[in-house]
Amino acid sequence: MTPSAGRRFPLPDGFLMGAATSAHQVEGNNVSSDWWALEHGPDTFVAAPSGDAADSFHRWPEDMDLLRELGFNSYRFGIEWARIEPEHGRVSRAALAHYRAMVRGAIERGLTPVVTLHHFTSPHWFSARGGWLAPDAADLFAAYARTAVEVLREGVRHVATINEPNMMALMYALRRLATEHGWSALAEGGSTGGAAFDPSAVEPDPDVTRALVKAHRAAYTALKEADPDLQVGWTVANQVYQAEPGAEAVAAAYARPREDVFLEAAREDDWIGVQAYTRHRIGIDGPLPVPEGAETTLTGWEFYPEALGEAVRHTVQVVGAQIPILVTENGIATSDDERRIAYTARALASLSREMREGADVRGYFHWSALDNYEWGTYRPTFGLMAVDPDTFARTPKESARWLGSLARDGHLPSGAAPAPAATSAAR
Ligand code: BGC
Repeated sequence: MTPSAGRRFPLPDGFLMGAATSAHQVEGNNVSSDWWALEHGPDTFVAAPSGDAADSFHRWPEDMDLLRELGFNSYRFGIEWARIEPEHGRVSRAALAHYRAMVRGAIERGLTPVVTLHHFTSPHWFSARGGWLAPDAADLFAAYARTAVEVLREGVRHVATINEPNMMALMYALRRLATEHGWSALAEGGSTGGAAFDPSAVEPDPDVTRALVKAHRAAYTALKEADPDLQVGWTVANQVYQAEPGAEAVAAAYARPREDVFLEAAREDDWIGVQAYTRHRIGIDGPLPVPEGAETTLTGWEFYPEALGEAVRHTVQVVGAQIPILVTENGIATSDDERRIAYTARALASLSREMREGADVRGYFHWSALDNYEWGTYRPTFGLMAVDPDTFARTPKESARWLGSLARDGHLPSGAAPAPAATSAAR
């Protein structure tokens, strides 16, 4: 069942409507990356390894064919540094040829490619020599960006340097604490053997934050020097921090290191990527749990589609109205595809409200094109298309047909009053 047509918001000319993936989450066998090493290391906290993932390394033509047939005009995908430079200083010509073919393949099908250079995974050698905290990390990343220009030259306009730097800096801080206190302390969100820490109180590591901003700026410069027409940005996880009455200052202080410093770093960019899934309420004493009785998704997040419009509004406030926005991720982990459609219809209505009020939004990419590897598990299914884990057969869901038809018709849902929040249990 699809939502009734309701009022429609016509998409501006050139609006990109697509779906997104990241290299490690769909390609499979990304054996030279630090995540692969983590997945296979002794005493790893990673529950399940990525393995073959969705085998998109080989099946990308089929993925793109399906996206195009469904009606989309764009595809956001990642290229993998660990494949392009599997050993420090050794560039794989075969990997570059592979990604060049992907860019050409997208364009031939009428899909505008939006390419991410770094999506949580680095080459193992890079992490082993200190990762983002190594003194020459920014230079190494900029050198990789320069190498990637050979891929981008095939016809990419929008390139994202680093995906969710705020989540990466947070993960770094969490991993350091977990190494000190044990992973069970993190899993329990509490204490082990008297050593306690509360994950929601952990801030992104400030040194990693600074290093990521520096690496982003270095890559920005390298890319623009190579090709001034490239439109360069990064994509930030928008947490939609909502202050309870009286907690405005607490929420602002909480949001700053976790989100706003990364948005501020985009003020000199060509565009900013907004990624939003849910909200986080902040009370006088800090983060609050998901409201009692609220519907939650397979990741345990609150079903709160209006997060998207609120994230766009906050981004405009912090970055400034002059920087164009691409919604580079938005979606829901659910096994109930009707809830995916309901969620996305409301998310898009909240987006079109912001656009009507002047937000310069140039594209929307649903997370995700495919059910994929959700960083340690295959259980939360975000995909518009299901993937058979044995045969890798792709099956578009009803949500894929519904969203593809909006892309084809060139409109977003608009104006409908938000549906009342559902109160069922996790799906
Ligand atoms: C990340 C994706 C992830 C998605 C859902 C974003 O934080 O960029 O890699 O799969 O959210 O958790």
